[in-house]
Amino acid sequence: MRRRNFIKKGAIAGIGCGVLSGLYTWQIEPFWLEFVQQKMPIQNLPDHLIGKTLMQISDVHVGNRFDYQYIIDAFKEAQQFRPDFVVYTGDYVSYEDERQFEQLEEVLKHRVNGSLGTAAVLGNHDYGKNWAEQAVANHITNQLEKADITVLKNQQMDIAGLNIIGFDDYWAINFAPEKVMNQYDNSKANIILCHNPDVCDLDVWNGYKGWILAGHTHGGQCKPPFLNPPMLPVKNKKYAAGKIDLEDGRKLYINRAVGHLWQVRFNVRPEITIFELERA
Ligand SMILES: [Fe+2]
Repeated sequence: MRRRNFIKKGAIAGIGCGVLSGLYTWQIEPFWLEFVQQKMPIQNLPDHLIGKTLMQISDVHVGNRFDYQYIIDAFKEAQQFRPDFVVYTGDYVSYEDERQFEQLEEVLKHRVNGSLGTAAVLGNHDYGKNWAEQAVANHITNQLEKADITVLKNQQMDIAGLNIIGFDDYWAINFAPEKVMNQYDNSKANIILCHNPDVCDLDVWNGYKGWILAGHTHGGQCKPPFLNPPMLPVKNKKYAAGKIDLEDGRKLYINRAVGHLWQVRFNVRPEITIFELERA
């Protein structure tokens, strides 16, 4: 009798824990934003940029898969940090149809801009179906540019002495990093924006040394403790999240994303990163 009672109580507790962790994974962690602070030592950084901040926002994923009021709230919170530079590393929408343009318009009213400047690259989702709709990418680019966010498509841009290089997306139709890396100048203070971290393993870097800011993986969104996340959209499974020293002078930072593809997260909180610039 006692034993049966014990099993019954155990089963109820087990079901309770399951329901609670399900609720947590669905309703709490996907919206539990973390602002991650990191130092960013950069070679040739001019004196006047030492101590300035660069905020990375990645994988916003505005669409129908979660309530994007959360993104608006996240942007409002991010504005409180008054970043000097802001960079966006792709996937502004989860594209289904033209409704995402209107939704993005609404969210961009609350975007974060850097006081010195704002740069961006596109991700695969910004290219619509099969990552191959040029018209979708053009529309999103125009929306970003209207919001004072410069989209770098295998291009570079100097903002106040920081040279920001941006690659177009690896899985989409305009990936051509050689166009900009042909002109790579190692005497500048450079950083590179590249949506998909798998690009780190390609022969396109022309001797680049410095930081590469990426997104795309969302950190896998769900990660069992002490194990790798089972769902990672990259070939190189080392490229999950956070800072990775590529041991050839390149340092990769993979942001865990502010938005999500599906509204589930476990042990991988959404992230906005704030780097403090220093001279290497
Ligand atoms: Fe993404």
